[in-house]
Amino acid sequence: MALLLAARPSVQVRLWSAFEENHRILRETRENQRFLPGVMLPDRVELTTQEAAATDGADLWITAIPTIHLRSTIRRFAAFATPQTAVLSLTKGIEAETFLRPSEILSEILGTDRLAVLSGPSHAEEVARGMPTSVAVSAQEAGLAEWIQSLLSSERFRIYTNSDRIGVELAGALKNVIGIAAGISDGLGYGDNAKSALLTRGLTEMTRFSTHYGAQSETFHGLAGMGDLITTCFSRHGRNRWLGEQLGRGLSLDAILASTRLAVEGVNTCRSVHDRCRNDGLEMPITSEVYRVLFEGKTPRQAVTDLMHRLPRAEQI
Ligand code: 13P
Repeated sequence: MALLLAARPSVQVRLWSAFEENHRILRETRENQRFLPGVMLPDRVELTTQEAAATDGADLWITAIPTIHLRSTIRRFAAFATPQTAVLSLTKGIEAETFLRPSEILSEILGTDRLAVLSGPSHAEEVARGMPTSVAVSAQEAGLAEWIQSLLSSERFRIYTNSDRIGVELAGALKNVIGIAAGISDGLGYGDNAKSALLTRGLTEMTRFSTHYGAQSETFHGLAGMGDLITTCFSRHGRNRWLGEQLGRGLSLDAILASTRLAVEGVNTCRSVHDRCRNDGLEMPITSEVYRVLFEGKTPRQAVTDLMHRLPRAEQI
């Protein structure tokens, strides 16, 4: 996002790092060697680790913090926010203990309602390399989504506005769980039929769950829904699909998590959504089986068998 903004000469961009060491490397090399090797940050992107300097006079804050670290990280900025602070959230998850969406956490801690969310098929490594990408932006405040659309759109980054903030945000979180299921299927050596069925029935349960919490079903046919689901389930470099693939190959969750520093959002989202479904009596068969594989030691093969045998068999949309 810093690169997209830096392409606009009239926009001043500051990039805040949570870690001194990352900041030092970025300062010396202008390159995020771990996550975006080969992509150089222009000099006009100012780098800082200071919350006050990062936010001083800013018209828009953009946050891309994994859900598990969002609350503790954003607390560092609370003293610099006002009710007029506009924030765009890129985080795709649900807080495990509270079932809050990222924009709700931001609103609670920063004390602003000027929240927007961006979601859709948008792997950072492709956006950063200027590959065509389309996403959806949603905000409650009239005009905020349109302003962000005009600020961030480019010939390689197309933004649609969508008035369904709950749907855009929940779709971005829930697709990660189906992404794990798709990876499990890959790890077991299954083919296109299995994965397409997972996507289709996965989208059905994502929609069922989200509309129960106030989302619009149409959102799930769009970029934040179907669009991101396809990217996550078919991507070679997707984190959630990768984790699922390791599970399908027989590795344990602990071993997989110990082998990576990547934030794999679907793990906690699955726990949180599964707990909600149980409380609210919602049927989420794929999410439930992913939960059992992740947290109850069920074998992926048994999970697939149970999904194939479950009733009812009439296609419920
Ligand atoms: P994955 O890394 O699981 O694909 O998630 C990234 C994402 O949300 C792409 O839009």
